[in-house]
Amino acid sequence: MGKKFKALVVEEQPDGTFSRSIQERDTDSLPQGEVLIRVEYSSLNYKDALSASGHKGVTRNYPHTPGIDAAGYVEESTDRRFREGDPVLVTGYDLGQNTSGGFGQYIRVPADWVIPISGKLTPETAMFYGTAGFTAALGVHKVITHGIRPENGRVLVTGASGGVGSLGVALFAHLGYDVIASTGKKEAHEMLKNLGAAEIWSREQVQADERKHMLPGRWSAALDTVGGDTLSTVIRGTKLHGVVTCCGNVSDVFFKTSIFPFILRGIELVGIDSANQDRPIREILWTHLGSDWFVEKIKDIVTIVSLEALEEKIQQILKGRIMGRVVVKLWD
Ligand SMILES: NC(=O)c1ccc[n+]([C@@H]2O[C@H](COP(=O)([O-])OP(=O)(O)OC[C@H]3O[C@@H](n4cnc5c(N)ncnc54)[C@H](OP(=O)(O)O)[C@@H]3O)[C@@H](O)[C@H]2O)c1
Repeated sequence: MGKKFKALVVEEQPDGTFSRSIQERDTDSLPQGEVLIRVEYSSLNYKDALSASGHKGVTRNYPHTPGIDAAGYVEESTDRRFREGDPVLVTGYDLGQNTSGGFGQYIRVPADWVIPISGKLTPETAMFYGTAGFTAALGVHKVITHGIRPENGRVLVTGASGGVGSLGVALFAHLGYDVIASTGKKEAHEMLKNLGAAEIWSREQVQADERKHMLPGRWSAALDTVGGDTLSTVIRGTKLHGVVTCCGNVSDVFFKTSIFPFILRGIELVGIDSANQDRPIREILWTHLGSDWFVEKIKDIVTIVSLEALEEKIQQILKGRIMGRVVVKLWD
């Protein structure tokens, strides 16, 4: 006999529109997998909002429960690595895309997707980070392995008030970098300063003269979450032998660049894919996030909502209006 649980369910209507409601489901309806997890917390990412609004590039088939992040306790496991009651998290892979996700009180997933929660992290604080934090951590890790140190000069984070951006600012600042946080929101300035941003730039300040192939080098590395014209400018304004990581496309999926920043300044452009990262790098970065990369003050940028209150937040993130992180508490 399965267990009954509450979940957000997105359904496709006959007229092609999509509706969202909280429904009772049964764990027997979850996909096959070695580990059943009682989800205590999830978090809201841009991709969840796309899945929740019928974006077929993210989720092919409906009805569907989104939620690319989940953290909680193992309820049942047929895999020796996990025992009942272990605190664990899952981010990415297919969770919440075409596999029933963290906006439900239970998920069932392959054991290889499951990461133990350790150090200072709990299911709640792990979701303060979630995919956004893991993505930011991947970007920071690429910058560090590229050899860029705080003494090499300022680093830039675009879309800084969003999930990935705000955690990128927090992580870089925590590790001693001078961070330029670029944001379109005046009301985010205080939050970004509190997270440790050394300078706040408007979106327009980052988007400089479009006709020039290269701009004066203003940052040694960048974490771009925006794409489009912003990414074009970020590349042109990166210093000699700098690195630009790109993960997002909230502005545009296309960007223009000449070859010059790459052949005259040796810039590297590194794509970030958080969903399909190998287990070893996940374990390394989640261990960092629970220890030396744990940023106490990120709790200040977290809004915790119930499943019922998630609807408003889904609409806000689609309009680029979210500041910081939205964490979903699944049980009363
Ligand atoms: N590759 C991966 O593995 C991966 C993982 C996670 C997320 N992502 C992607 O990364 C992006 C950010 O995700 P998120 O969860 O951080 O989303 P988010 O919380 O909505 O943040 C996006 C931020 O971008 C800025 N922005 C919004 N519209 C913009 C526009 N038209 N032009 C310029 N800036 C704009 C806003 O910040 P300001 O107002 O502060 O400028 C907004 O808060 C999304 O595209 C998401 O799909 C990718």
